[in-house]
Amino acid sequence: MTDTAPAADPARAAATFRALYRAEPTGLWAAPGRVNLIGEHTDYNDGFVMPLALPHTTLAAAAPRTDGVLRLHSAGAPGGIVEIRPEDLRPGHPGADWTAYPAGVLWAMREAGLPVGGADLHYTSTVPLGAGLSSSAALEIATAVALDALHGLGLSRPDLARLAQRAENAYAGVPCGIMDQTAAACCTAGHALFLDTRDLTQRQVPFDAAAHGLRLLVVDTRVRHRLGDGAYARRRAGCEGAARALGVRALRDIPYAHLPEALADLASLTDGAALVPLVRHVVTENHRVEQAVAHLDAGRPHALGPLLTASHASLRDDFAVSCPELDLAAATAIAAGALGARMTGGGFGGSALVLVEEAAAATVTKAVDTAFATAGYTAPRIFPAVPGAGARRLDP
Ligand code: GLA
Repeated sequence: MTDTAPAADPARAAATFRALYRAEPTGLWAAPGRVNLIGEHTDYNDGFVMPLALPHTTLAAAAPRTDGVLRLHSAGAPGGIVEIRPEDLRPGHPGADWTAYPAGVLWAMREAGLPVGGADLHYTSTVPLGAGLSSSAALEIATAVALDALHGLGLSRPDLARLAQRAENAYAGVPCGIMDQTAAACCTAGHALFLDTRDLTQRQVPFDAAAHGLRLLVVDTRVRHRLGDGAYARRRAGCEGAARALGVRALRDIPYAHLPEALADLASLTDGAALVPLVRHVVTENHRVEQAVAHLDAGRPHALGPLLTASHASLRDDFAVSCPELDLAAATAIAAGALGARMTGGGFGGSALVLVEEAAAATVTKAVDTAFATAGYTAPRIFPAVPGAGARRLDP
């Protein structure tokens, strides 16, 4: 099944806001979902990532409040307006569910000592939920840019990303890295974002697949993932343990050229052998990101194909975060003529990414659809990913 995924409709969001809150929204802010081109499970190892923004957005229609109260409503969630009073704004607030993400952003801003008041917010989103496309970061960043503007905070995009990550870690309880929030806040149309997650330096790398006769496809396997359920946290703890055992601040500090020695050292330690595959993935993946950037800088996007495929093998075999549906999507796409394919995002479900020549895109799409049907899996949702803009204010 293909899906061209339009952005959320601002006029409709403004009308819904008016009906809900009986007032005009002060403004509308949008933040996109993302796909990560390459650099997976590297961001909590101080490593490199290269996400790009999707055309799918979460839109927030918003107005400020002076009483500190946060009122939240989502077109996609059951129930009406959720009201969170200032005294209830703490991790685990009563009835916390999706509201933990926007409430967490306000909480993180207050914790940081920022002079931020309350707000009325209505959200609507076209970012698929639980599809590994960062719907939660889109929700956080739409909230962050809205609160920043409504209360005149004047924060930078990287600062908003950091606050949103704190919201997700400390309020929503998901131990994620900084990639998704930075992608939603900082990506620009026509580019992938090369981010060093240690010092947060970033570079916009032009990525125009169509100009090279290529297409990037997202395959949403419809297997819903949850990062909060422990497997992600265990990978993260394993990486941090391996860094300690190797005497480095983070796995980022192991140069690719020294990988064999590092793995041998680790294997010789008590309990070290189990960490070898994690380290091998992170170090080789960082190296693949650097190679990918070099290829894009040199105008060779075709050359990304084998890197994507190697990334998938590493995530599947060493990091063990893939699943049968992601493996089938990637293997089928490659067998049908794609240049490369891999899972994207945290894994355990969610989406795969396929790089394919324009001329082969229809064949590859059909092959993946057929393979899923034959395996008895839910039909995937397949759509092209053209790098879109990061968070922005919209006109109603
Ligand atoms: C999730 C997290 C990110 C990152 C990826 C894996 O999307 O939110 O911080 O760790 O998984 O690369």
